[in-house]
Amino acid sequence: MTTTRTRVAIVGAGPAGLLLSHLLEQAGIDSVVLDSRTRDEIEQTIRAGILEQGTVDILAEVGTTSRVHTTGHRHDGIELHFADEAHRIDFPSLTGRSVWLYPQHEVLIDLIAARLAAGQDLRFSTTVDSVEGVDTASPSLQGTDAEGQPFTIEAEFIVGADGSRSVVRPAVAGSATNGFFREYPFAWFGILCEAPPSSDELIYSNSANGFALISQRNETVQRMYFQCDPETDTAALSEEQIWDELQSRVPNTELKRGPIFQRDVLRFRSFVVKELRKGRAALVGDAAHTVPPTGAKGMNLAVADVILLNQALQALLLRNDERPLDRYAETAQKRIWKAQHFSWWMTSMLHLSPESTEFDQMRQLGELRSVVESEAGRTYLAEAYTGWPFQTEL
Ligand code: PHB
Repeated sequence: MTTTRTRVAIVGAGPAGLLLSHLLEQAGIDSVVLDSRTRDEIEQTIRAGILEQGTVDILAEVGTTSRVHTTGHRHDGIELHFADEAHRIDFPSLTGRSVWLYPQHEVLIDLIAARLAAGQDLRFSTTVDSVEGVDTASPSLQGTDAEGQPFTIEAEFIVGADGSRSVVRPAVAGSATNGFFREYPFAWFGILCEAPPSSDELIYSNSANGFALISQRNETVQRMYFQCDPETDTAALSEEQIWDELQSRVPNTELKRGPIFQRDVLRFRSFVVKELRKGRAALVGDAAHTVPPTGAKGMNLAVADVILLNQALQALLLRNDERPLDRYAETAQKRIWKAQHFSWWMTSMLHLSPESTEFDQMRQLGELRSVVESEAGRTYLAEAYTGWPFQTEL
């Protein structure tokens, strides 16, 4: 059994865990980052693609390895389609901000390279089996490394940045399920295809056949989604059926078709854990909350948590001041619930629920019209989509 001592043990090498280890190192605080997945799995898993301006700014500061400004694309708006009409929401004129299309796995490639270059103790294929002593000043983790050998990490603080199936969550929240939870009666059928972009900006469409999102990756690869039943078998549709389904939902835009090389079904859930922190342990990112993908808030919300927890840990570990840590949960929850509301609102306004009546569908169109025809409505959407300013003081 090997034992490592560090100041902060971070479980999860996703955007939250890696960014936190970077920010802590800048403040002179060492950490160990553990992940049960291989480096390849982490760097190749396809996730969402939209970064808020604030997220881009902080990633760009991480160092020369960030390619967000060279490989990413700035988007100054989105299109909302409904009732055979197209409406553009212009972000800079409404909020002074934009968003960036830069897929999460690219962010992870950058962050992993930066952490390894800095000599970070970053361990892949490493599982955490138990979390102990969070009520003491010296909590610890027990796990199994990539060679199957048991190990212990003794730390001053433990962070659960290990996603929606977090192993740290029970130690903080009392159980894996102790939270506020909502499931949706639909999912997204996602594709990656080889084709040029069909539109300059992302299209979110409410159609009589259900929701579709026309997103992008780069000049030659596109990402698109259409609302489907959560039990849909991705192999059951031919490429032509997928294209016809997508096209029927964006009647105003001719989709440029091409070979589809990946298909997946994304389930829709909203979740917020009841306890974000207990003693010397805290949760960030998907370990603490899940949002449906419609508002593109997942990774951005993780970054917002990390910015706060970084402040709290610096106060605790550099100045022995616990007060910011005592404010972490309450402060983080305010933004989490705003993002939960926004993600739920975008979802409910754009999707066709199996229980929807004709009244509900007509009401949705009234709701969409009240957003796009009012500067206040467009501004509300643009502020949330581009991201509320990060709170950097606790
Ligand atoms: C994506 O490109 O994967 C994407 C974009 C916007 C969303 C969700 C996913 O709201």
